[in-house]
Amino acid sequence: MDAFANRPNDLASFWMPYTANRSFKAHPRLCVSAKGMYYTAGDGRLILDGTAGLWCVNAGHGDPRIVGAIQKQAAALDYAPNFQFGHPLAFSLANRLTELFPSALKHAFFTNSGSEAVDSALKIALAYHVANGEEERTLLVGRQRGYHGSGFGGTAVGGIERNKAQFGAAVHPVDHLRHTHLPENAFSKGAPDHGGPELADDLERLVELHGASSIAAVIVEPIAGSTGVLVPPKGYLHRLRTICDKHGILLIFDEVITAFGRLGASSAADYYGIIPDIMTLAKGMTNAAVPMGAVMTSGRIYDTVVESSPAGIELFHGYTYSGHPLACAAALATLDVYREDELFENAGMLAPIWEERLHKLADRPHVVDIRNLGLIGAVELAPREGAPGARGIEAMERAFEAGLMIRVTGDTIALSPPLIISEAEIETLFSTLETVLRTID
Ligand SMILES: Cc1ncc(COP(=O)(O)O)c(C=O)c1O
Repeated sequence: MDAFANRPNDLASFWMPYTANRSFKAHPRLCVSAKGMYYTAGDGRLILDGTAGLWCVNAGHGDPRIVGAIQKQAAALDYAPNFQFGHPLAFSLANRLTELFPSALKHAFFTNSGSEAVDSALKIALAYHVANGEEERTLLVGRQRGYHGSGFGGTAVGGIERNKAQFGAAVHPVDHLRHTHLPENAFSKGAPDHGGPELADDLERLVELHGASSIAAVIVEPIAGSTGVLVPPKGYLHRLRTICDKHGILLIFDEVITAFGRLGASSAADYYGIIPDIMTLAKGMTNAAVPMGAVMTSGRIYDTVVESSPAGIELFHGYTYSGHPLACAAALATLDVYREDELFENAGMLAPIWEERLHKLADRPHVVDIRNLGLIGAVELAPREGAPGARGIEAMERAFEAGLMIRVTGDTIALSPPLIISEAEIETLFSTLETVLRTID
């Protein structure tokens, strides 16, 4: 293969998202095809996918069952509006999702991404309180270091300061719980032991400060991903659920990365046995082959908003491509693949092997913490004096040269491979990473 056959001749025009544009364009890392666990880089090298793309290609790349379903759908019905009209696949998919997730989540609202799912979830929470006669409940509570996408609502409730700094004040009244990262939990295998209920009690502090009757919803990632993987300490999420119930506050789980098998279960809600009022989805929903997201809501929320409205449109919200036929076809095929190949079960079976191998990196150069749950892992490196993030970026660049895709947030390496990974590929992933850590200063 001609090493440069697929290399664009001008990289300037594309303003790349969440990317150091100048540095990338000086040393591009291009992927030109993908199959199973591997990308092929522009120079023909195979790159092991240690991140399922961006936590989204859970069934591995290019599964012919998903590709075929999209091709077939494109030929049969390329598009039909879901405003006042509809097409069968969107209804089928909503039914399938309600079968997959805890039975209390009875309705699915479709979006095109995780960011849109989050903004939709927040708007649905507000609409619920209005319909319920509690329109003073407008405060949205997020968590420090939380990531809820790039929409205005998601940015406001998000807690990664760097993501907010360029955009001025939040668009909606928000407050934040403390994050769940405690130094005494360093190198925990799986869920950390310390601080769970106490950290969740932070919500009681906000209730005291603002008054319960002003708080609409609390949104958390069950496991914070983008900030560098923070697994909640034992008891944290249960306690959050209890406090929300006590004060009539809706609990939203942002499951954009945790749903669809990442923890060996359909969702974190399922894994922890905690039922949120609202759940956001995206990424693994279509195996990332067509963009799609969704908001799952309880029957109570749907009934309150829909049944209490006068005749006509009940929720003034939606997207041209909500429930796009190609996305629905991809999602339905993806759900079949997850079931036929028992991929959630596979992830659950591999999780202890993954944990064991990951934690062997504890005494490797620069490593100051390791965190994991399910098929998620994080290796936190000490920052370089005066240059936070530089060591992480170098690790990412060196890993790509060595044939491995990893993701970094600051100096934390985040790993989330496709759920089809084999034990041999787990070994290749970590031994490559060990080599990379030895070569960076
Ligand atoms: C928890 C969470 N919510 C929302 C999003 C945003 O999803 P998208 O990039 O599809 O808009 C992400 C993306 O990483 C995420 O991790």
